[in-house]
This record gives sequence, C-alpha cells and structure tokens, in this order.
Amino acid sequence: MINIAIDGPAAAGKSTIAKKVAARLGYKYLDTGAMYRAITLYLHEHKETDLNELSELIDIEFSQEGKLFLNDRDVTDMIRESHITKQVSSVAALKEVRVFLVDLQRKISSKKGYVLDGRDIGSVVLPDAELKIFMTATPEVRAQRRLIEEHARGNNIELSVLIDEITERDTNDMTREISPLVQAEDAVLISTDALTIDEVTSKIVEFANEKV
Ligand code: C5P
Repeated sequence: MINIAIDGPAAAGKSTIAKKVAARLGYKYLDTGAMYRAITLYLHEHKETDLNELSELIDIEFSQEGKLFLNDRDVTDMIRESHITKQVSSVAALKEVRVFLVDLQRKISSKKGYVLDGRDIGSVVLPDAELKIFMTATPEVRAQRRLIEEHARGNNIELSVLIDEITERDTNDMTREISPLVQAEDAVLISTDALTIDEVTSKIVEFANEKV
C-alpha cells in the first residue's frame, strides 16, 4: 500500500475525488482541511486558548462514515458554516496549529493506505508520499461547483460572493509564511476544468496502480 497526497486550491474537487479514489483502492481518506476547520471552530468558541496546549485540549476523530468529532461532539456540519470558512485560513497560518496537525496527520497515515487531501501534504506533511497530485480548476469553475453545494444546503448565496471568497482564501493560503500552498516538484498536475469526477478518479487510480 502507498500514501496518496492530493493538494490544490479551495473547491478544486479534492475531497470528492479523494473519497472516490480511496473507495476504489480500498484505502482510507483523511480530510486535513476538516481538521483545520475543527481547530478554527474550537478557537472561535474558546477565545483564550493557549496555542501551546492544543495537544492537551483538542481531540479530533473521524468516524467510519466520515463524520468529524471534536472532543466527542459531532461538528461535521458546523465546520462548513460560512463564518468558519471565512476564518480558517488565518487559523491555518498559525505555527502552533500547523505543528499540531501535521504531527497528527503523519501519525494517522504512518501505516500507509491513505488518501490525504489538503494544501501542504506533498510538500510538507508527506514529502515521501509515493503519489502526489496537484489538482486545480479556474476560480469560476470552482465557485460554480461550490454554488451547487451551497444551494443543496439551502444557502442562497451568489456566485460572485463565492468567487471572491475562494480567491481570497487561495491568496491567504499561497502567501502565508509557513507551508504555503505550492505544487510539490514531483506532483502530477491535473486541471479538472474539462474532466468529469469519474475521469479524474480513474486517472489517479491508474497512477496509483502503477506505483504498487
Ligand atoms: O480543504 P478545505 O477547503 O476544507 O480547507 C480549509 C482551509 O484549511 C484551507 O483554506 C487552508 O487554509 C487550510 N488547510 C491548510 N492545510 C491543509 C488543509 C487545509 O492550511 N493541509
């Protein structure tokens, strides 16, 4: 078994594809963005937190069905709310937060057989990952996909608002000092603009089968 790193900007389809790739290969999926969102929720609710104590204060667990539990509370839906999405890239820029989560992500994936999606998996978390993918799409295509998800959740948000939100989050993630979003040198670039979910999934599964 190998580990597969999937990085790229916001709403490029990483999590949808990563889940499908994991299912096709019989691997586990680790949503590292959800972990940054969980910490963002915790810090929002506990404003006086000492960032050096994160490992004592925070327990993050994913259930078999992919639900996220923060200190035994199901926060799967809460971490997707727009006030968390707006704050997450500033929390993800904090050194203590990154040190805590990178360590946790390495521990979880150490037994191999994981598909991880995020921003720094191929560059920082698992520089030795056997397969690295950098997934992109234009901001318009990404916002359009996010719009469909938001409408399905009952949020009547406008496309232009989503384009602005996505562009701002990408800029923050690409320009932060620690582990900015970059394409690892040995990552395969996949632009998903003109590809279906199944086409992208099959491509990655093929690459993975060549590695094992
Ligand atoms: O993947 P998702 O959009 O849920 O990620 C939310 C945020 O978490 C990103 O915008 C980024 O700021 C942060 N993140 C990160 N490193 C990762 C995964 C996510 O900094 N590996």
